[in-house]
Amino acid sequence: MREKTNEEKLAEFEERVGRGQKVEPGDWMPDDYRKNLIRMISQHAHSEIVGQLPEGKWIPYAPGFRRKLTLIAKVQDEAGHGQLLYRAAETLGKSREEMMEELLAGKAKYSNVFNYPTPTWADVGVIGWLVDTAAVINQTMLAQSSYGPYGRAMKRICYEESFHIKQGYDAIVALAKGTPEQRTMAQDSINRWWYPTLMMSGPPDSLSVHSQLAMKWKIKTKTNEQVRQEFVDHIVPQIRALGFDVPDPDCRFDETLGHYRYTQPDWEELKRVVNGDGPCNAERLAVRRKAHHEGRWVREALAAHHDKQSKNAAA
Ligand code: COA
Repeated sequence: MREKTNEEKLAEFEERVGRGQKVEPGDWMPDDYRKNLIRMISQHAHSEIVGQLPEGKWIPYAPGFRRKLTLIAKVQDEAGHGQLLYRAAETLGKSREEMMEELLAGKAKYSNVFNYPTPTWADVGVIGWLVDTAAVINQTMLAQSSYGPYGRAMKRICYEESFHIKQGYDAIVALAKGTPEQRTMAQDSINRWWYPTLMMSGPPDSLSVHSQLAMKWKIKTKTNEQVRQEFVDHIVPQIRALGFDVPDPDCRFDETLGHYRYTQPDWEELKRVVNGDGPCNAERLAVRRKAHHEGRWVREALAAHHDKQSKNAAA
């Protein structure tokens, strides 16, 4: 039988994806599909492990044993999410070592939101509540991704992230019911995280480089704008119900649209932050490099163990 041409393979691929069938690692896929997925999944994996840092620094100072335990569990979960996602990216042919080198060399992107400081305990609550809500809304969409390993990783991650939202919300509710100083601290944190969280869903469709192709091949099933609007519609009533303000005087429900209107973030700021010039990029990478250096002996021990097992199996 004659070998199919690339055009025929592409047409079959698009037909399968159109029918909602999942693409699996050994399947034929267009180069741009593979490249786009590696780009997105590796950035996502980096976000998980860099995302451990802003909250991780609060573990020693968490108010009380119960909050300390839940925070430790949450930060540990993020390492597991990184592990799942690096594994999913590896199925597309890029090694974990290569992805890690790019991150540590400052060449790889990761979520903008983890480049902002966490000066108060309220930031731990607000990250869990606001940032993780935005993440879950995006990731619930990505769980439908056409690439099987990515979608399956997302499902597992969303279960755990939903617990993270509860952890953050619970911490904020305690502050909301607390002293005037505690309420002020929570409001200040909401004010600082509002726009970075809106930016998390990516630039508007007119500025998004990859959305069109990603939507065509169902890597994503919603645009950045749709995801952001879903987040705003979900979170604004919650913020107000706790007696806090949304730091946007123009944020109001539009009866005709059936959605909240809101002020767009500063997209130049997003560009700067994701390209290495945010308030904490240098600090985050320095901590990751240190952790990578200190973990070298573990990687070497595991590799030696693996070699020994392979030799025994071959003997
Ligand atoms: N943080 C960091 N980089 C971002 C970003 C953000 N919030 N939003 C956009 N970018 C980057 C994109 O990665 C892309 O960079 P690249 O071309 O160098 O790879 C560029 O800005 C243009 O954006 P766009 O064309 O819209 O990219 P996209 O279609 O991949 O959409 C995301 C951006 C973040 C919405 C998308 O990649 C995504 O959903 N990723 C998985 C989820 C994730 O990483 N979450 C992290 C927090 S848990």
